[in-house]
Amino acid sequence: MDIPNEVQAEFNSFLKRTKRSNEIFNKTKDLVPYGVSSNYRALEPYPIYFNRGVGSRIYDSDGNEYIDFNMAFGVLVAGHNHPKLVEIIEERIRNGVVLGFEYERIYELANIIRDRFNVDMVRFSSTGLEATLHAIRIARGYTQRDKVIKFLGTYHGSHDFLLVATKPNLYAAGNRKRPSKVPSGPGVSKAALSEILVAQYGDIESVELLFAEHPDEIAAVILEPVAMNMGVIIPPKEFMHRLRALCDDYGVVLIFDEVKTSGKLFHGAEEYFGVKPDLKTMAKAIAGGYPLSVIGGRKEIMSEVGPDKIPHAGTFNSNPLSIDAGIVTLRDILTRDAMDRAIKYSSELVKAHREIFTDAGVPVYSVGFGTSGAVFFSDREINNWHDFLLYEHTGKWWVYFVSMMNRGIIPTAPGPDEQWTVSVQHSEEDVERMVDVLNDVARLVAMDVPKMKNIEAF
Ligand SMILES: Cc1ncc(COP(=O)(O)O)c(C=O)c1O
Repeated sequence: MDIPNEVQAEFNSFLKRTKRSNEIFNKTKDLVPYGVSSNYRALEPYPIYFNRGVGSRIYDSDGNEYIDFNMAFGVLVAGHNHPKLVEIIEERIRNGVVLGFEYERIYELANIIRDRFNVDMVRFSSTGLEATLHAIRIARGYTQRDKVIKFLGTYHGSHDFLLVATKPNLYAAGNRKRPSKVPSGPGVSKAALSEILVAQYGDIESVELLFAEHPDEIAAVILEPVAMNMGVIIPPKEFMHRLRALCDDYGVVLIFDEVKTSGKLFHGAEEYFGVKPDLKTMAKAIAGGYPLSVIGGRKEIMSEVGPDKIPHAGTFNSNPLSIDAGIVTLRDILTRDAMDRAIKYSSELVKAHREIFTDAGVPVYSVGFGTSGAVFFSDREINNWHDFLLYEHTGKWWVYFVSMMNRGIIPTAPGPDEQWTVSVQHSEEDVERMVDVLNDVARLVAMDVPKMKNIEAF
């Protein structure tokens, strides 16, 4: 299929506007594979490099300004460089950023997290990866069992235990009721994966099958309560209640991976489902841009962590920089009022995506959850990874993304399986500008382009 001239012109214009990124990429790619430090930042034909972020704005290396709705994959619900964070961090730098011994303010932050996210005890780490890795170990240590159920299409960080069935193609994904246990790439240990079982997201029967087959062997079920590595997928509340009951029946630890969702509603996803997991992992937004993650949960389980008990350690864990940032972010920045405003803006964006693309004759399915939302170019609902692979028009998504970028908007994190995040620093004008630009690009997205080969136009 030929690319329409106007769409081709958008891709050409994108390359013209990002010449400096191309230059940086060409210098960097022989030193750093694909010119990036995280595979999710690699873009074809080259990644876009940035050097500054302020409030709701971000600036690339060519000096282009964008209203940022990626917000560092949801890290920056506080917005870029919030003044309250700048103040506390400047003070902290003068007082030392790593002390080696435990930092006295962990008590304050642990209290804030206990009250806000309904957990009895917490341990701090730095990244989401560490939090899910430790949560699994804690569940295994507590239950004295090894098997862990995860779901097709969910991502829990770059460690071997859960780098399975993250984003396989349709052939590799396997059966809807019995997804395949496909490693996310070469190098993922077969031994690590031997104890992982894979179920279909939102489908309780596929979980029941695994419980029936391994009644006494399952330590934990880990899931994103709202899947945010497949756009935004909100499973039925009934699914979550039945999952809770199943875990109770079999003595299995239910882990909510709230690395993303802890920044979407004031109390995280538990607020929406009314289901309390045994353990929770949180990261990204909770420290306003500084590396902080939390493993929290029931006292009976968490108190098994300790010397000569379940291991948990890390040189940078609860460093004062991250703890101070966490306190200010959760206490003073991500307040109920500020989050409510961001949530309202995000639901306006969901409505705008639905209306504008429908009016332009583009099949569209848009879903919001708190401060985030996603657009799928699909004529039906997307409820799991199979649906995404079958129904999402990836080609249209890239026309949308590139055309929005050309008009000064980063509409979502880069990738059709990602979502936008509205921060507490986005203004009504930012949202209006996004809507104006959507009106402008809808006619381009309506044009016929190949479904899968999203980068053909480059
Ligand atoms: C749900 C979820 N869990 C865990 C992680 C891993 O977090 P990190 O990249 O901080 O290691 C991510 C990252 O995107 C995530 O989305």
